[in-house]
Amino acid sequence: MATSGMSSIRMSGEKIEIVNQLLLPHTTEWVSVDTIEEAYDAIKSMKIRGAPAIASLASLSISSHLTKALQQDPVPEFLSSADALKAYVQSKLDYLYTSRPTAVNLGAATRRLSKTLTASLDAGKDVRTVAQDLIEEGKAIDGEDLDRNKQMGKWGGEWLVEETKRRGGSGVGLNVMTVCNTGSLATSGYGTALGLITYLHETSKLDTAFFTQSTPYHQGSRLTALELITLKIPHVMLCDSMVGSLFQHRGISGIAVGADRIAKNGDTANKVGTYNAAVLAARHNIPFIVVAPISTVDLDIADGSQIPIEHRPPLEARLVRGALYPFTTNAQGAREQATVMVTPEDLGGVYNPSFDVTPAELITAIVTEKGVAVKAEGSKVFDLSNII
Ligand code: MRU
Repeated sequence: MATSGMSSIRMSGEKIEIVNQLLLPHTTEWVSVDTIEEAYDAIKSMKIRGAPAIASLASLSISSHLTKALQQDPVPEFLSSADALKAYVQSKLDYLYTSRPTAVNLGAATRRLSKTLTASLDAGKDVRTVAQDLIEEGKAIDGEDLDRNKQMGKWGGEWLVEETKRRGGSGVGLNVMTVCNTGSLATSGYGTALGLITYLHETSKLDTAFFTQSTPYHQGSRLTALELITLKIPHVMLCDSMVGSLFQHRGISGIAVGADRIAKNGDTANKVGTYNAAVLAARHNIPFIVVAPISTVDLDIADGSQIPIEHRPPLEARLVRGALYPFTTNAQGAREQATVMVTPEDLGGVYNPSFDVTPAELITAIVTEKGVAVKAEGSKVFDLSNII
């Protein structure tokens, strides 16, 4: 049975540490996140990334901060009254929410903590108990991710097996392509789309996992590659520009991707390049599956045109980060790393959106912890209000 040995966050007491994903796969560096400001910076600089993982870190940073505050003598000013606590916690939640704009899980987590704050205060609880409620809710947001990922992996995997049979296949020896990184590094464990692939592997239904490099951050070539190696899942990497060729020349059974925000009609924002894959999948009549928890669905947004799309700094698209090759090691025995610029220094402009939106029309199924949603016969959109 495959189990992932990877994780993006670890806690010991109130100490939070994250793997600096900017240095993977060559260096595993755990960095401590001691304050809410450090959590914000880690998310913004993409030391941690992936919609569920950043929601987990934001929530845990609130829990840890409040726990440490309760242990102080005297307690900080913000624990002196209900009004002070409300103003303080809400300002921290608003601040964390601005760290990355597209992933709605972060907003769902901060809204959930905000609701806990209001409900506990409205119930007339004392300030320490309200803080304790927030601490527990923050930990719960992180804790519930793993089980739902396993559930989604199973439901999505079984659905794809049945779908390939409906299309005349045998339901075994599946080749599944994914984009970006949606595994243990992007979640609290097992992953979403990568969880589906892992489930197929665990149940002997998978032949090969294909994944795009997912430039410019290389979530595929750095992170998904590392996870698949750790899981011992047979895999093949391709450059982002090779998806059409792959669909022409290899029998691809399905595409499974994650999501950063899903509108009410099913339009889905995910790592840039997902839309290209969906257009090509439609052309080749390959099932295209989005796997994401309910917290990724934003019912306040009718369609994808309203999803805010983050544009990353131009410099990030001009640089490649990695180990020197042939490999050299430093005094500590670690591989030496470098960042190199691949463009002329006086390059004009750079277009660098971090995400794109795949219209619901191109999506065959959306898998959440509640089950597998498909469109009604003849409809081009999903009605996700039914499943929430
Ligand atoms: O910019 P990133 O690396 O945070 O983008 C991540 C993705 O697009 C993932 O597919 C998405 O967050 C789902 S992760 C389970």
